[in-house]
Amino acid sequence: MADLREHFGALAVEGIRSLQPYAPGKPVAELEREYGVSNIIKLASNENPLGPSAEAIKACQACLDELELYPDGNGFALKQTLAEQYSLDMNRITLGNGSNDILEFIARVFLAPGLNAVFSEHAFAVYPLVSMAAGARLNIARPNTRDHAMPYGHDLAAMRSLVDRDTRVIFIANPNNPTGTWIDADSLEAFIADVPPHVIVVVDEAYVEYVTEEDYPDSIPWLQKYPNLVITRTFSKVHGLAGLRIGYAFSHPEITDLLNRVRQPFNTNAMAQAAALASLGDPDHVKKSIESNSTGMARICRAFDDMGLEYIPSVGNFISFTTALPGDEVYEKLLRQGIIIRPVSNYGLADYLRVTIGSTEQNDRFLHALKVITGSGK
Ligand SMILES: Cc1ncc(COP(=O)(O)O)c(C=O)c1O
Repeated sequence: MADLREHFGALAVEGIRSLQPYAPGKPVAELEREYGVSNIIKLASNENPLGPSAEAIKACQACLDELELYPDGNGFALKQTLAEQYSLDMNRITLGNGSNDILEFIARVFLAPGLNAVFSEHAFAVYPLVSMAAGARLNIARPNTRDHAMPYGHDLAAMRSLVDRDTRVIFIANPNNPTGTWIDADSLEAFIADVPPHVIVVVDEAYVEYVTEEDYPDSIPWLQKYPNLVITRTFSKVHGLAGLRIGYAFSHPEITDLLNRVRQPFNTNAMAQAAALASLGDPDHVKKSIESNSTGMARICRAFDDMGLEYIPSVGNFISFTTALPGDEVYEKLLRQGIIIRPVSNYGLADYLRVTIGSTEQNDRFLHALKVITGSGK
């Protein structure tokens, strides 16, 4: 076994050899199997506790009659509706099997050995994965300090200083996961304007719908001014469709054309396309999801304050916090009570844990268990 590991490892291309696979949140069924607990709640992957829109579920059901058919590989109907809603031409839109798929297209198109990608420490874990798989070097910028207004968030000046002639991609998560920090419109636009034209700036807006901050950018109009800008978004978060895997990107038509060259012909499935389309037609569900998130976020922050826990203020649907106990211990103890959250030490945030904002009942159960575990509750 060990021999074969060495043998095949030596055959693998260099970027893959040193790659650490992405560690997803523990699935419910796995916890059931391993710990024999039931009544499990998963607050580990920033999913929507309200689930998808009822319209999306209906659209999925309608797909059941046509499962033998390939989907529309071009996703015409969904792209057309996105184009209308955002007043963009369809030739600026790429659909992905989750927005992760699109991050990979970007890496495949623009990165290779000898080139590099710039991103911040504590940024979303997929940026190093796709960049390394393409054989590129990682130029990882020092993040904001702990006492900054956006603790551990992106330091744009530090990122800019790492851009050199071999840089092809900059990944910016706005807001970032797992820190929940964000970048205001003026700072982000000044940064994009200053980046040389040989660098693609990817602004990852997976959590855009949750952000209510006034200075948060409306980045879409920038596409007209900055041809090297790519904006990625997803149906996995506020639309509650993470299980179907569908996301999208807006970019210059020439970039869209390049991204679509590496896209598999049927990368987004029929149900995902239909459900995403139906979701776009149900803004009330999005509104409800946002309201539920902000009520839950306020409740969790208040409870953390009462418990004297340190946390990183977040504008997403998750929050990272730390207790006086080792992060892994808190994680394990919560697992034993059927509550799955996420340690984020793999993001360089030792002893921090990230919890997704759940339903009222889920939040209460999580907070109650946390109080008992940390000894800060009555
Ligand atoms: C910052 C960020 N970007 C992108 C994604 C990818 O989401 P998906 O591939 O489900 O669209 C996530 C998922 O957690 C994320 O946190």
